Amino acid sequence: MAEQRLIVISNRIPTEEEPSGGLVVALHDCLNARGGIWIGSSGGPVEQPRAGLTKIAEGNYTRYTFDLSREEYDTYYLGYSNAVLWPVFHRRADLMQVRPGYAQGYLDVNARVADMVAEFAGPDDTLWVQDYHFLPLAAMLRERGVQSRIGFFLHIPFPEASHVPALPDAQNICSWVASYDVFGLQTEADVERCENLFRHECPSFIESDGTISVAGRRCRPMACPIGIDAEGYRATAEKSKVGKRLFMHKGQKLVLGVDRLDYSKGLVQRFEGFGAYLGRRSNTDEPATLLQVAPPSRQDVDAYKDMRMQLDLTAGSINGDYGEIDWTPIRYVRRSLPRDELAGLYRRADAVMVTPLADGMNLVAKEFVAAQDPEDPGVLILSHFAGAAEQLTDALLVNPYDADEMAAALERALTMPLEERKARHARLWENVRDEDVDWWTGRFLGALCQPRAVEAA
Ligand code: UDP
Ligand code: G6P
Repeated sequence: MAEQRLIVISNRIPTEEEPSGGLVVALHDCLNARGGIWIGSSGGPVEQPRAGLTKIAEGNYTRYTFDLSREEYDTYYLGYSNAVLWPVFHRRADLMQVRPGYAQGYLDVNARVADMVAEFAGPDDTLWVQDYHFLPLAAMLRERGVQSRIGFFLHIPFPEASHVPALPDAQNICSWVASYDVFGLQTEADVERCENLFRHECPSFIESDGTISVAGRRCRPMACPIGIDAEGYRATAEKSKVGKRLFMHKGQKLVLGVDRLDYSKGLVQRFEGFGAYLGRRSNTDEPATLLQVAPPSRQDVDAYKDMRMQLDLTAGSINGDYGEIDWTPIRYVRRSLPRDELAGLYRRADAVMVTPLADGMNLVAKEFVAAQDPEDPGVLILSHFAGAAEQLTDALLVNPYDADEMAAALERALTMPLEERKARHARLWENVRDEDVDWWTGRFLGALCQPRAVEAA
């Protein structure tokens, strides 16, 4: 009998440059534990792209990459994926840039990857496609005769049905989704939005367990919130030392933010919330410092450049208004830190602000919980609009558009009695530990590998 392999396909894959992002972190933990094959792009544009797949690493799992030409990178990655799908799926259709060639570039790269995967995979392999870069892949694989089980996981929010018509290929979305056997989503709210789209935009039948039947195919949308290697990360945090690099006044409180430099993360609004907190405090209080770690992301997309400028201005203005000769209120580090170093910072922090305007899950929230000392834990301030808010209900939940509400949450977090901090943290930890990355993998692959209705009969 042929070997049954798990083959994961995503745009981003771990390479030497260690990019930050939840997808790479979670899939690495998943494949490291259970083995398999991971196929992804080699990263930036390549002057002379190689044809086909190149094996780049072998270990607990095997990695293969395909190259993207300059034109493919501009149209498929920067263009359709990150200047069209990303803003619409994050409720910012106003930031969308539709340019000639984007949609075709997206379809062409998906078709090229479908050719490579159809040739590479055997009939007993299970295929697991990741994220918005590859929505049409299953439909294209089916056209090439692939009959294996194909699952999909969307790491970002599913859009409202009323926003989907803003997409240039809006009419294709339902048939792309329906070509998967299982369509994994981060939250119940995402599943609801997905079902809603089918109800309104596509002749389909939704069965009582949520399975959608469309033109002879059955697809099961399923909420499967992604997790982290909770025990492993807790152990890393216990060992990690922040050391002398983090200079603070004695007794001064530390508030932390860790996000890619992305408009969906609500960084400008967060800085304004922190400014409002500084404005409310009395002159005798020792004010907290906000340390924001923000590695740059997709800097060739205009909306990212604009937001970076706006953030620089906001940080400069708050530091000018409130800074002292021996204290800078907002420390803003625009580069990526290794995750083990972040673990030490999380553990040292009195509070973390995870305040996105829209986010699929947000692993930083879960990492912060795992990294705390249970005897003296920090407080998680979490946006209602992060997928994690469906599970982490013992955080201080805030509206990231309301600076005063964020200021009040900061005051509450920084003065919260130890007993309340411990009780909230214990409940948060229970969830992060129980619904970890192994739980996520097992839940998704369990559903994908279930016998199909005809096979079961
Ligand atoms: N991260 C990192 N270094 C940094 C900033 C972030 O390694 O300087 C990691 C972080 O630990 C987390 C991931 O990048 O695991 C971000 O995932 P999240 O789900 O929070 O957001 P995404 O970037 O995927 O939107
Ligand atoms: C989010 C997306 C991932 C992406 C990551 C980093 O987590 O869901 O698909 O890999 O951001 O973005 P990048 O464009 O650098 O891969």
